[in-house]
Order: sequence, then structure tokens, then C-alpha cells
Amino acid sequence: MNQAETTKTAALDQALANIRRAVRQQKPYLVGGVPNIAVKLNQNECPLDLPEDLKRELIEAFFYTPFNRYPTEQPDRLCRALGEFVGWDPDGILVGNGSNELTYTFGLGMIGEGAAVVLPRPMFALYETVVRLHGGVLTAVPPRADLSFDAEAILEAVRRVQPVLVVLTTPNNPTGLSMPLHEIEAIVCEAPGFVVVDEAYVEFTEEESAQAILPAYPNLILLRTLSKAFGLAGLRLGYMMGHPAVVSELLKARLPFMVDRLAEMTALALLERPALLDERVALMKRECKQLTGHLGAMDGVEVVPSQANFVLFKTTVEPDVMMDRLARAGVLVRNMGGYPELKGYLRVNAGTPEENKAFLVALKKALS
Ligand SMILES: Cc1ncc(COP(=O)(O)O)c(C=O)c1O
Repeated sequence: MNQAETTKTAALDQALANIRRAVRQQKPYLVGGVPNIAVKLNQNECPLDLPEDLKRELIEAFFYTPFNRYPTEQPDRLCRALGEFVGWDPDGILVGNGSNELTYTFGLGMIGEGAAVVLPRPMFALYETVVRLHGGVLTAVPPRADLSFDAEAILEAVRRVQPVLVVLTTPNNPTGLSMPLHEIEAIVCEAPGFVVVDEAYVEFTEEESAQAILPAYPNLILLRTLSKAFGLAGLRLGYMMGHPAVVSELLKARLPFMVDRLAEMTALALLERPALLDERVALMKRECKQLTGHLGAMDGVEVVPSQANFVLFKTTVEPDVMMDRLARAGVLVRNMGGYPELKGYLRVNAGTPEENKAFLVALKKALS
């Protein structure tokens, strides 16, 4: 290296040293996989786009929306419509740029340096990142042998570390398993801090939502998304529900203007069409059930019964090899081997009947 290069490298090192260690120690969130694959079943998305006539109607309306004007600081119309849709005080609702984005508000609002946080494992990976980015101290609670939540062990961890935050995801991603409401309530009662229940897949489960107990516990917060059942993953909308006083405090940690006009208009249009939503949820539930049945009946395949729109499975073939064989057949699923408890597992979400058929045919071929 010549002198100029050495100086440049030293300047870069100095610049990088100013980025917090907690940030530099993280890995960026990457989904991976082949872009533009024919059968995409790797992100638990709704397999159907909005009906074409509705999309045209929205785009026409959007044409007359001024692009040069800011949207409102918080999407108040959408908060009110969501409040009516779910039966909750709109003052107790915050809408974000996807529910992922709202997890940073929990980080800012609750997790100070050294604060204890309890997360069951395996857990949607973003939560661990949020805890570490904000300097929290993580207590991870392993699942039972069947991968279900170990509520007793979570309670024991809560008593021991007195966390500022516990996150429960039910149905859980990546397992698809739910936590019964009485177990959630026991944890909420015991917790000295907040319990966030991520209900991204609530529309697909038979278990009762934790909304049933929300009025009784100001330390309980629900997190939901419009990315799954509503099929709006590309527009980025999620919301939290909690006691209005809690929400108005967390509002202080929010960036303004996180929800753009097109996203808000689209969500409002969808909330006015509950039959469309019901139809899609019914399709995804039916397809997931069928997929699980077909997988369970295949030789050399082990399935975890799911209450969401995806299913976890294991085959006799090494996961990377299986991913590769499926990709050659134009099918993309997700390798879950990054979670220590899920070595050897793959996750596939329910697609359209045609997509599921293509996946099952490719899987059968890849196994033979
Ligand atoms: C448990 C869970 N929470 C949140 C999300 C993301 O939601 P959003 O698209 O609203 O950010 C996902 C997406 O896969 C998820 O599995």
C-alpha cells in the first residue's frame, strides 16, 4: 500500500469507528434466494395480488393526489378505520411502515442500555437484532422438544431477570405453532414490563387473539401486519394496539410521515371490503391445510402442524441441496437452518393451488 492508500484506509477506519459497536456487530437482514423465480413460497406472503379493477381504481385516485404534499404525520384516517375494523380505540393504535418498522419504536421506547429482554426461541429474527441494537441484554428461552413455546420456562425467565420487554409471536414464525391465551395471560400477569404479542398470522389461527385480554392489561401490546392476510406486503403497513396512554407515550418515539398516501388509501379500500379479505384468508387456510396433508403423507418428510399460512418441514435430503433442487424446478422455499433448533428444516408458505402443486411435484422429484 502506498502512502495515499494508507491514509485513505486510516480515514475509513476512523469513520467506521464512529458507528456504534452494537450496530457494527449486527448482520444486515437479508432474505436471500433467487429473484424472479416462478413459484415464490419463501416469505409467507399472500399469493394473490389485489383484483385488477381495484388496483386501477386506486391508481386512478392516486393520480389526483398531490405528490408534492406531505401525508399527515400519523395516518389518522387509517387509525380510525382500523379501530372500527378490529374494535379498538383508535387512540390506542399506531400505524407503521410495516410492523417491522414498529419494532424499532419498542426498542427506542423501552430498551435502554443493559435492559433485560426475554424472547422465546426460535423467534422471528428481527427482534433479537432490535434488542442488541439498543443495547438490551437478551434472555432466550428454548422451546419444548416439539418446538412449541415452553410457557413455564418463559415464566421462570421473567421472574428471574425482570425484563422490560417480553415478545411472544403467535402463531409463531418460523414454527407456525400458537400459544394458548391462558399461557399468554399468565406471562402478562407475571411480567413487570411490557409484553408484545406479535399477531402477524392471527387471521389464520383457531386460537383466540390476545385482544380478548387487552383491555385488562396496560402492559400488553399487540402487533399486527397487513402484509400477510391482507396481501399488502409491498406497500408496508403494520400496526400496534395498546392502552391509549401507552400508545401516546410511544408516539413520541415515532418518526412522522412513515405511511405514504398510496399505502393508506389502499388499506382504507381493503378495510371497506371485508368479504375480499375473508375469501383470501379462507383460500390461504385451505391451501396450507392441504399442503400440510400432502407433505405429511410423503415418505421421507416430517411436518410441524401449522396454524399460520406456512409450514415447517424436514426431508431426508440436506436442506441446501434440497433448496438447490427446488430452485432448478423454479420453486423457492426458505432454509430455516440458521436457527439452532431448526437445523435441517425448510419452510414453505401456502401459494395458489397451482403453485402448491408445482412445489409438491418438484419436492417429490427432488426426493427421488
Ligand atoms: C412474526 C412476524 N412479524 C412481523 C413480520 C413482518 O411484518 P411486516 O411486513 O408488517 O413488517 C413477519 C414477516 O414475515 C413475521 O413473520
